[in-house]
Amino acid sequence: MIMKKTATISSFNGMEQLFTGEDINSLKRSFFEMQHLYQSAIREISTKLEILDDEFQVIHKRNPIHHMQSRIKSIKSIIEKLNRKDYEISLESAKANLNDIAGIRVVCYYIDDIYMIAKMLTQQDDIVLLRVTDYIQNPKENGYRSLHLVVSVPVFYSDRKEIVPVEIQIRTMAMDFWASLEHQLRYKTNDTVPLSVAKELQECADTIAKTDRKMQSIYKSIEEIKKGNL
Ligand code: GTP
Ligand code: MG
Repeated sequence: MIMKKTATISSFNGMEQLFTGEDINSLKRSFFEMQHLYQSAIREISTKLEILDDEFQVIHKRNPIHHMQSRIKSIKSIIEKLNRKDYEISLESAKANLNDIAGIRVVCYYIDDIYMIAKMLTQQDDIVLLRVTDYIQNPKENGYRSLHLVVSVPVFYSDRKEIVPVEIQIRTMAMDFWASLEHQLRYKTNDTVPLSVAKELQECADTIAKTDRKMQSIYKSIEEIKKGNL
């Protein structure tokens, strides 16, 4: 499994003007402390997932995870989201109101791997499951599929423990293929996709989902043959 992109601490990016009435240096310090906290939470969760993936390889001679990506929400997106949701614009408000400042995407081989990884992670006793959105059982209207979890994980510092939320998107390679292209198309067309195109995209998502289920069943048949049951 490859860790494709590690979240990097992003810069303050000229957003100072949006925070008024505060000492800019202490604001910058708080901002970097906050980024470090979310970066640490990502490391905690990534390590847990890597260990689970390695263990599965040792026992079953294959990896359930194809690759992972992670990101920390940029200050620009944090401000946009706080605005969109009508929350106060401050670092404290971001910490209190946003669950997706730290994000990890886990791309698996098979559909069953998704649920297995989700179960193995969330049953660990330092992890608290805060939210599950199953866009595989209930795909979005546009065809988007993935399992979304929000979990919290403790991060231990020299003198304290912080509980940090992390958004985890778990999907197959096929779901990732569709979501990446759809995201790019939407970005290129500024969110306005004609209805006929939207329908075609949704049909692609359905075809891809069907193929995903077929590949899963082929895998199961081969496992049965290997066990001598077929
Ligand atoms: P917001 O983050 O405020 O939008 O609300 P939410 O957390 O309830 O959103 P949701 O869980 O539906 O989506 C969070 C993330 O999932 C997005 O930032 C995307 O990365 C991904 N996602 C959700 N819907 C789509 C979609 O239709 N297409 C693609 N490509 N990605 C999606
Ligand atoms: Mg979100």
